[in-house]
Amino acid sequence: DDSKEGVKGLVESGVSKIPRIFHTGKLVINENPTRDIKFSVPIIDLKDIHNNPTRRVEVIGEIQSACHEWGFFQVINHGIPVIVLDEMIEGVRRFHEQDPDVRREFYTRDLNKNFKYFSNFSPFNDQPTNWRDSFGYVVAPDPFKPEEIPLLCRDIVIEYSKKINDLGFAIFELLSEALGLNPSFLKDFNCAEGHIIQGHYYPPCPEPELTLGVSSHTDADFITLLLQDHIGGLQVLHEGQWVNVPPVHGALVVNIGDLLQLITNGRFVSVYHRVISKNIGPRISVVSFFVNTPDPIEGESKIYGPLKELISEETPPIYKNFTIKEFLDYFYAKGLDGNSSLEPFK
Ligand code: SIN
Ligand code: FE2
Repeated sequence: DDSKEGVKGLVESGVSKIPRIFHTGKLVINENPTRDIKFSVPIIDLKDIHNNPTRRVEVIGEIQSACHEWGFFQVINHGIPVIVLDEMIEGVRRFHEQDPDVRREFYTRDLNKNFKYFSNFSPFNDQPTNWRDSFGYVVAPDPFKPEEIPLLCRDIVIEYSKKINDLGFAIFELLSEALGLNPSFLKDFNCAEGHIIQGHYYPPCPEPELTLGVSSHTDADFITLLLQDHIGGLQVLHEGQWVNVPPVHGALVVNIGDLLQLITNGRFVSVYHRVISKNIGPRISVVSFFVNTPDPIEGESKIYGPLKELISEETPPIYKNFTIKEFLDYFYAKGLDGNSSLEPFK
């Protein structure tokens, strides 16, 4: 029923108890800040990496260990002005907080639409337990269809996504070098060809201990670039503990997805993460997924597996080869069920 769409629609109708479908069962929430000081997601300063070769080598070393040990890091001095980040958060807020009757028109199951407003994992395969609403927009490749982006956030979505696209390419160069490969290796592998952006909105929750903003999952892409506001709530699973990823104003969070774990034969890890819900907020975040697009020649039958450059007698392949279609079909059918989408391909 789309008539009271989304979690925000539910909040607007005035509930004080959350419906049972949102209940997740017992949650262990780590909100202990001393633990986070000992275990914290690395913050990597990208200042001078384009003009200071010594600094670049250091940064590549930091990225290599962050990707191996955490699968997550934050970047600062990445070149995107803070005002663009702040304005993007505000654009997402304007979309979700606009007149519900206008917002509802974007709540669509139409596959031809490039801009979609939805609640939970996907409008096609709901696993109705997450306390968040989202919009999604395919930035790259074509069809770009910017005229579908609502006017109240169109300019900033276009500006932000262009800047994130460029930063994504710069990060793929650093990741390639961190793997001991040619700087353009991952770009040439089409890892950054596709770019999907999502604007998430986590309304304040009247019973935050009963539900999650987003359930534990790994991302299915190559890498994700994430912008979060000041509210907090993002956690990563590190050495069996949920560790907070604290908001750092002006920073972007980078995380490794399943496809990069696969092609690096497990050298870089795609780790579980989730967002807890809170009775404050809303919390707003913007997520950019970098994915490959169907190969121009082989299409969906292109085979993926551990890169031959990264396997040897000492490090034999730990994953099978499979087609991107097999992988995506499995990913979409299972949804955010708490298992890695690489499970059947070991
Ligand atoms: C996600 O991983 O799906 C979103 C993370 C966030 O909102 O911070
Ligand atoms: Fe994610």
